[in-house]
This record gives sequence, C-alpha cells and structure tokens, in this order.
Amino acid sequence: MKILHVSAECYPMAKAGGLGDVVGALPKYQQRAGHVAQVVVPMYRTPYLYKKEWELVHQGRQQLGTYQFSYSVIREKSRELGFDLYLVDINGLLDRPKVYGYEDDPQRFIAFQLSVMDWVCHWTHRPDVIHVHDHHTGLIPFFMRYAYPFRDKLQGVPSVFTIHNAQYQGWIDWQHRDWLPPYDEWKSGLIEWAGQINPLAAAVKSAWKVTTVSYSYLEELRHSANGMEKLFEYERGKCSGILNGIDAAVWDPSTDPLLVKSYGIDQLAPGKQANKESLCQQFGLDPQKPLFTFIGRLVHEKAADLLPEVIHQCMHHFVDRMSLILLGSGDSTLESNLHQLAQQYTGRFGAYIGYYEELSHRLYAGADFLLMPSRVEPCGLNQLYAMRYGTVPLVRNTGGLRDTVVDMGEWQGFGIRFDQASVEDIVYSVGRALDLYEQNPSKLQGMQRHIMGFDHSWDRSAAQYLELYQSIR
Ligand code: ADP
Ligand code: GLC
Repeated sequence: MKILHVSAECYPMAKAGGLGDVVGALPKYQQRAGHVAQVVVPMYRTPYLYKKEWELVHQGRQQLGTYQFSYSVIREKSRELGFDLYLVDINGLLDRPKVYGYEDDPQRFIAFQLSVMDWVCHWTHRPDVIHVHDHHTGLIPFFMRYAYPFRDKLQGVPSVFTIHNAQYQGWIDWQHRDWLPPYDEWKSGLIEWAGQINPLAAAVKSAWKVTTVSYSYLEELRHSANGMEKLFEYERGKCSGILNGIDAAVWDPSTDPLLVKSYGIDQLAPGKQANKESLCQQFGLDPQKPLFTFIGRLVHEKAADLLPEVIHQCMHHFVDRMSLILLGSGDSTLESNLHQLAQQYTGRFGAYIGYYEELSHRLYAGADFLLMPSRVEPCGLNQLYAMRYGTVPLVRNTGGLRDTVVDMGEWQGFGIRFDQASVEDIVYSVGRALDLYEQNPSKLQGMQRHIMGFDHSWDRSAAQYLELYQSIR
C-alpha cells in the first residue's frame, strides 16, 4: 500500500514535540511491514536540512489570496530514514528556522497544504491513502473532495486524519476565506465551526476516518474538546483511538549513543547510576538521592504552571530527600520563575530552559522518576520513553497516560497515578515515590525491570493503521 503522510513535523528534520517523533517513526514501521510510506513536511531551515543531500522532484506555482508564489519539492537522497522524506520550499513563508510561532502561521500552513495538493495532482506516484496530522494539514481532506483545482484528481483517494492535540485548532477568520482555493460553496459548512474557519473541525468532518492517539483521549474529546465536543459526539462513528508507539531503535538504552553509559535490563542499576552521576555533576546535585525529572513544553496543558509551587513544597517537605531536574521551554514568565528557583534551591533543583534533545535522552536514563502531571495528554511519549529506560512515571490519570500507566497499588502496577492536576496531588505522589525508593528498593527495582521489558514499539499500532486504511481503500 502507498501511504503519504503530510505533517508539520517529522523527526529528525523538524521536531517541536511528540508529533515529530510519531511522523518520524510510524512510516519507518509501515515500510518495514512491506508498504511504501512517504512523508512530506515544510522545508524549514533546520540543521538536518544542511547536513543532507537533496534532489529536486517538482516545481509549481500556487496562489494564496492575491499572493502568487512558487514552490519546489525536494527529496532526501540517501533515504537513510527508512522512508522517503520530501520537503516543500516556499520562499518568504517556510524558509525560517522554527516550525511554529510566527504571526503568519495560518498563511504558511495553507500555502504548504496548497503546494502539497498541487504536487500530488502532478505526481506519477498516486498514493492509496493520504494521512494528515493535526490542524496544520487539516484542510487537505476538504481540499481533496471539494476544492476545484484538486478534486477531479483526488476525490477518490481516501484521507485519514490523526488528532495529536485538539486544543489547537488553527482558527482563521472568515475575512481570510480568499486564502483558500476556489471550492464548492455548498460545502462551506464543512470548514466552519463556531463562526470561524476551523481546520481541525474541517478535517474531522471531511476525512474518511479520524483517529486519536489514545483510546481514552477519544472518550475525553466528547466531553472536553476546546469547544468541539458536539462534533466529536456527532462524528463518533468514523473515529477510533490508536495508541502511539515509540521508535524502539532511537529510544533504546542499550544502544543509545547519547548516554554516558548504555545499559540493558541486566546492567540496569550500574547503567542508570552512571548516567545519574553525570547529570548530577552537571547540575550540582547529590547522586545518592533519588532524582526526579520533568521534560516538556512549559504550557498550561502540561500543568507546568503548577511546577513552581510544587518545587517550593517538595523542597520544604522533603528537605534532603530528593533532587529534581527540569528540561523545558514555553511560557516566558514561567521560564524565568523556574530559572530563579534553580538559584534559590541550588544543589537540589536544576533547570535547563530550552530545547535540548541530547539532554532529554540522558534524563530519561539517569532519573529515577519522571513527573507528568498533564491536564491534557492525548497520548504522551515521555512516559513511554521513561519506561524503556527503567524510569518510573508519575502521571495524572488522563488520556494516553491513563492508557499506558497502571498505579503500583493495583495488581501488576508499575507507576504512580494521581487524579487531580493540583499541587497537593503532585506533592503527595512525589512522597509515595520517595517512600518506595527509601523503604522498598527491591520493589522499585522489580518495577524498573518490568517496565524496561515492555514492547511499546510501533509494530502493533502500525498494523492497526494499516487495517484502518484497508477498510476505506
Ligand atoms: P507533546 O507532543 O505534547 O509535547 P509528547 O510527550 O508526545 O508531548 O512528546 C514530547 C516530545 O518532545 C518527547 O520526545 C520529549 O522528549 C520532547 N521534548 C519536550 N520538551 C523538550 C525539551 N525541552 N528538550 C528536548 N526534548 C523535549
Ligand atoms: C501531541 C500530544 C501528545 C502526543 C503527541 C504525539 O503533541 O500533546 O500527548 O503524544 O502529540 O501524538
């Protein structure tokens, strides 16, 4: 089967979060299963672009309102990723270092989608399914069916839309409708939600199938979807949950080149300790104490706003019993608060504010516990990586965290789960982790070995996606 993934991110070309990891891994597993999976993302100016060689495969022109632009499509020559990676270049819109965060993001991603559509219409290789991810590519299922320049060629090609995060919907004011290509006006309702052009809603309404990245998240969307609850209730028949996997080759403590010392289950204790010591040296912490970590975007969804108070309380209640390293970036006030706290609690709390892929690997390996108090977590990959590295996750009972972590108080449990995204619940859970570490080290080791043995690789979920494609082909 020939699958084309269209996305804003794909690791290692472009990653801002878990979407990049998923689109960098799923196609690899689909290829391995004997299919042809290809990926197209915008040609941002990221380091990966300059490290590789590319060949030009197509050039064209499109129009965004009154703005005429040229685009080109290039392909990575060596095919080292295990699938074909295509990039779309649009000068003036996509030639920037970051994936998101520009004022003209709506125009950038509409121009990207128009270019992809136009390219695919001219392509000799016709995909059997076009799989789009999140709102940045959410207009594509609509364009394929109802936009005059594309529908004759693409109407019959099935589209699948995966929701990685429904908090962000890509809202565009109707006054900008001329950014869209000419389309069947009778179908305007399909791109509208709550008085705006809503690319996420457009995809849910227009795609042949819709998936979420965990089962529990799909259930939650019917009650809490940033204003789109009714739509999820109405469209439930075409929606299903397929849990994310992990790239078991990139995230493997026994081969990970980014670690100070690699380790398998058999060398779990010395391996983790060596990595922990190097982290503690870097951040000025005591390697004999249990080490907690938080890795992630510093945003409300991740409950990052609670962290300063959590840190104060932990540092007071558990005075000399623990250390914490935080790696993250996001809200600027929060960033500077955390920076300040790292100075206030020198020797016990360390923070790296920014994005640092290598440090994230070392933290999954060197920490004893990973904290993920998310208010919303459609799947979450951090807890899966942590477990692969023998690090016990402390998670809030929501979305993909609920589907992948069982509390140690339950039968065969292996993590710590709490119900509320509140300072009290988080601090209480840290206390439970400390008691485990101090009073029951053999149980902790048993849990670590247990979680390291889990197979969260993409094999199973890749097969579920293939079944879904087959069902609509
Ligand atoms: P989300 O996509 O909502 O941010 P996920 O748990 O799905 O959450 O994925 C987050 C991904 O981004 C993981 O690979 C995590 O290691 C990585 N990550 C998040 N913040 C940082 C950071 N500051 N530095 C390095 N990696 C980070
Ligand atoms: C989103 C979600 C996260 C999920 C990731 C990959 O960014 O916030 O929970 O793991 O996408 O699907």
